[in-house]
Amino acid sequence: MWYLGGSVFRARKTHTSTGEVGVLEQRGHWGSRIGFVLAAAGSAIGLGNIWKFPYITGVNGGGAFVMIYLVCIALVGLPVMAAEILLGRSSQSSPVGAMKKLAGPRSAWVSIGWLGVAGSFILLSYYSIVAGWALNYAWLSLTGRLVGLGPEGVEPLFGEVFSSSATNLVSHAVFMALTVAVVLGGVSKGVERWARILMPTLMAMLVALLINSFTLDGFPQALSFVFGIHTESLTAGGVLEALGHSFFTLSLGMGAMITYGSYLRKDDDIVAASITISLLDTLVALTASMVLFPIIFSYGMQPSAGPGLVFISIPIALSQMTGGMLLSILFFLLLVFAALTSSISMLEVVAAYFIDERQWTRNRATLVTGGVIALVGIPSALSGSTALFGADFAAIFGKNWFDTLDYLVSNWVLPLGGLGVAVFTAWRMDEALRHDHFLSGCRMRFFYKSWLWLLKFLVPVAIVFVFLHAIGVI
Ligand code: TRP
Repeated sequence: MWYLGGSVFRARKTHTSTGEVGVLEQRGHWGSRIGFVLAAAGSAIGLGNIWKFPYITGVNGGGAFVMIYLVCIALVGLPVMAAEILLGRSSQSSPVGAMKKLAGPRSAWVSIGWLGVAGSFILLSYYSIVAGWALNYAWLSLTGRLVGLGPEGVEPLFGEVFSSSATNLVSHAVFMALTVAVVLGGVSKGVERWARILMPTLMAMLVALLINSFTLDGFPQALSFVFGIHTESLTAGGVLEALGHSFFTLSLGMGAMITYGSYLRKDDDIVAASITISLLDTLVALTASMVLFPIIFSYGMQPSAGPGLVFISIPIALSQMTGGMLLSILFFLLLVFAALTSSISMLEVVAAYFIDERQWTRNRATLVTGGVIALVGIPSALSGSTALFGADFAAIFGKNWFDTLDYLVSNWVLPLGGLGVAVFTAWRMDEALRHDHFLSGCRMRFFYKSWLWLLKFLVPVAIVFVFLHAIGVI
C-alpha cells in the first residue's frame, strides 16, 4: 500500500524540527494546538447550538431530551469526531483526497469524501440565509429599532426579515462575503486567527448574557425545565432528533473535521482534542438554553415556540426588558459570530478540495467556490418570498426549497457521512495506521478499545435507526 506509506512519509518530511512548514507543503497547518481546538470548536459551535438546540429542547419538553442528547454526544458524536480527525491527520488531505489515499484511488469509499464536499456546499448555501437573519437582527438592534416594540411590533418585523427578497439577498451576500474574506486568509492566518478572536469574544458575551439571566424571575423555572428529568414529553422521534442533532452540532459527517484534522501535526493528541471540542460545544448549547429560557419564562412565553424561539419570542421579550437594547445587540452579534466560525469550516471543505485535488491556488479556490455557493443560495434566500421556491415548489415537493435542502442534509447526508466514516475507520482502514495515529501524541491510550467498539457496533446501529425513522418505519 504505497499510498499509506507515502502519506505518512510526506507528513513527516514536510515538517522541519522547528515546526516550520517545508517546501513540499502547499496546504498550510495550524499555528498552534489551541488554534486548532478553537477553530474546530468554532466549526462545531454555531446556529445549531444557539438557535436550534434550545428550540428542539423546548419542543421536546426539556430535561429528558437533554439527558439523551448528552449520551448521544458522548457515545456517538465523540467517537466519530475522533475518527474524522484521525482520517484527516493520517492522510494530510481533505475528504476526497483522504479517502483516495486511505482506501485506494478508485475505491467506492471515495464517495464518502464526495458526499462531504457536496454536503458542505449545500449546507453553506442555506446556512448563510439563517445567518443573514441574525445579521439583520444585529443591525436592527444596533440601530435601536428593536426597542419597545412588543409583540405587535416584532411579529411583522420578523415577517419582513423572513419574507423580503431584497433583505434576504443582501444579508446573504454580506454574510458570504465575510466567510470568503476569512477563508482567503488561509489556515493559520485566516481560519485560525479569526477563531482566536471570535471564540473568546463569543464566550465572554455568553457569560454576560447568562449573568443577566440569573437575575430574572424565570431562572429557577428554566433550570428545572432544562435539567429536571421529566420523561413524560419524550418520544422515540425526540430520541432520534437528539441523535441527529449530535452530528449536526459537532459538524460531523461532512468532512469538516477531516479537513481541519488534515492541518494537524502528528504529535497532537486527537482524543484530548475531540473531548475538549465536544465539551465546549455542549457547554455552549446548555448555556445558550440557560440564557434563553429564563427570558422566555419571565415574559410568560412558550418554550415550545419552535424555530421562531430566537427570532420572534426572544426579540419580543428583549424589546420590553430594561437594558434590552444592549442585550439584543450582544445576543445577535453572538449568533453572527457563532455562525461565521461555522460557515468558514464549510467553505474550507469545498475550497480545500480544489486546492488539494485540482492544484488551484487558495485565492482562486475560495473566490470561485464562495461565489458559486452564494449564487446557489439565492433560491434559499427567496424561499420565504417567492412562489417559485416557496409555495409552488412546496406544492410539488412537499416543502419549500430551503426546507427541502435542510431535510436532505440533516436527515440523509450527515448520518450517511457519519456512517461511512465509522464503518470505514473501524472495519476497513489499515489497522496499523489507525492504531499508530490514535496513539501518537495520545495521553488517554486506554480509550482505543472502547473507541473501536463504539465505531464498530453502536454508532452504525444508532445511525440505521435514524434512517428507519427518516423513511417512516419507526
Ligand atoms: N456545527 C455547526 C452548528 O452547530 C454547523 C456545521 C458547521 C456543520 N460545519 C458543519 C454541520 C459540517 C455539519 C457538517 O451550527
